[in-house]
Amino acid sequence: MKESLLSILRNKKSDLCTYREATNRLSHLIAADAALLVKEKPISFSSPLLPCKGRALAENIVLIPVLRSGIALLSSFLYFFPDAAIGFLGIHRDEKTAKPILYYEKLPPLSSQNLIFLLDPMIATGGTAILSIEKILEKGASPQQIHLIGIIGSTLGVRQIATKYPKVHVHLTAIDKKLNAKKFIVPGLGDFGDRYFGPSV
Ligand code: URA
Repeated sequence: MKESLLSILRNKKSDLCTYREATNRLSHLIAADAALLVKEKPISFSSPLLPCKGRALAENIVLIPVLRSGIALLSSFLYFFPDAAIGFLGIHRDEKTAKPILYYEKLPPLSSQNLIFLLDPMIATGGTAILSIEKILEKGASPQQIHLIGIIGSTLGVRQIATKYPKVHVHLTAIDKKLNAKKFIVPGLGDFGDRYFGPSV
């Protein structure tokens, strides 16, 4: 099903509503996969009838959407992790150099107890992801606690992240081979943010 939803996103004929709905459904599938990554611990409690043993999540989840596209993934992750802490990173790409520029940072303190889902649908050059990871590490996390969750990545972007941070986990629905001159992923799906939120100037 992920592939058919991704094809709706890739299709230039998908209008805003179709695109947004397909993204939301795909996000649910991605978040459900991510939920399976969380470690559980044994617990004891009582049912209305008897004491019993069960399991509870053993890690404190932190969700960090990269503004603005990462917001599209947030509500699906909150469905599975309603008590997650949420941090924000605002990063845009310089139009000329395609280099990432941090314009907003609001992250919670992080410790070894956290499992961090860094949400950014498109991993083009890897520059935004690498800057995001640096900011998260500055707050006290280790690379292996970070799961970068995207929809499409480029071969180059994924390689750059793996070279710099081999212990960061990267989860994508598709990896496209190329970037164009403007560092957009091709075939990709165009500008994710404009297609999900509506065109911007
Ligand atoms: N961001 C997008 O929205 N699309 C790309 O192809 C690359 C980065």
